Amino acid sequence: MMIAVLPGDGVGPEVMRAAVEVLRAVRPELACEHGLVGGAALTAGLPALPEATRAICERSEAILFGSVGLPEYENKPLQERPEYALFLLRRDYELFANIRPVRVFAGLEAASSLKAELVHGLNLVVVRELTGGIYYGQPKERRVVDGIESAIDTMIYRAPEIERIARVAFDLARDRRKKLTSVDKQNILETSRLWREVVGRTAVDYPDVSLEHLLVDNAAMQLVRRPADFDVIVTENMFGDILSDEAGILTGSIGTLPSASLGTRRTARGQFGLYEPIAGTAPDIAGRGIANPTAAILSAALLLRHSLGDESSAARIEAAVEAAYAAGARTAELARAGEPPLSTGAFTQRVIAEL
Ligand code: IPM
Ligand code: MG
Repeated sequence: MMIAVLPGDGVGPEVMRAAVEVLRAVRPELACEHGLVGGAALTAGLPALPEATRAICERSEAILFGSVGLPEYENKPLQERPEYALFLLRRDYELFANIRPVRVFAGLEAASSLKAELVHGLNLVVVRELTGGIYYGQPKERRVVDGIESAIDTMIYRAPEIERIARVAFDLARDRRKKLTSVDKQNILETSRLWREVVGRTAVDYPDVSLEHLLVDNAAMQLVRRPADFDVIVTENMFGDILSDEAGILTGSIGTLPSASLGTRRTARGQFGLYEPIAGTAPDIAGRGIANPTAAILSAALLLRHSLGDESSAARIEAAVEAAYAAGARTAELARAGEPPLSTGAFTQRVIAEL
């Protein structure tokens, strides 16, 4: 069984090293093959997603992904930017369901930017549609119209795309607190009107799940007002991108949050998927060995659960991370005054010791 490991840029390589170490500790026989991706590939004179990297993904059960993005490519067109690798992987493997669990580890409540009592017990999941909407709609280009510099992106959704992501979210809610919030902008956007209609129709098959609809601006507000009320949130690609960062920081550090992107492809024991921290490259701390590897380690746990069908190893890793936090292990961004912060490597060893 093979795992593709694509570290990418910024803190990607550091946190991937941590995740692979933990993965090896629970499943020593797993083979990991590393590939260049993003800015790391571009800098080597290759495309953001080189053929050799695609080939590694092709022969793998899952992809463990670090992060992509480098400031020097910021002004280039999408096809020449590191982010294009992610854009292609999501599209080509049809990874339409992006699952972003958000929870606060006991003891970290005080690190949240919200009052501790508001985030106590916070445990929600953002289900983000990942292969449609304004990210992928055509036309998507720069134009000169009547001599005026313009640009266009197209937001488009087809009913089946909405229905399949809604079903992922309803199924998830059914196994949790049975509450689904669908987020849209139906007072203005046609795509959102269709979204709301299709989610509403799909709800008929899930009478045990209570469904509420929120407009995205209101959802952004409710997330900081009553975050613990949310169970599962389902929304389109761009709204999900924005809301998942907002939901993420409620936990005190976006460096603690993993994600799984799943599609239609099966593996021997589960689904093919791409697993990555939701935080980005963190260029301000990259290369210093202080990044929080939690998100990457928990992404490896999701990989074991969804792609390798190994629930017990996944649960072992999650419990070990929890135990490390409960015992006071903290990386720099979470350490309180007077607490000595752990390096990426030292935090990882604390997790491994708790396995
Ligand atoms: C994310 C990221 C990506 C996105 C970027 C890196 C293209 O922000 O996974 O949330 O916008 O989807
Ligand atoms: Mg994002």
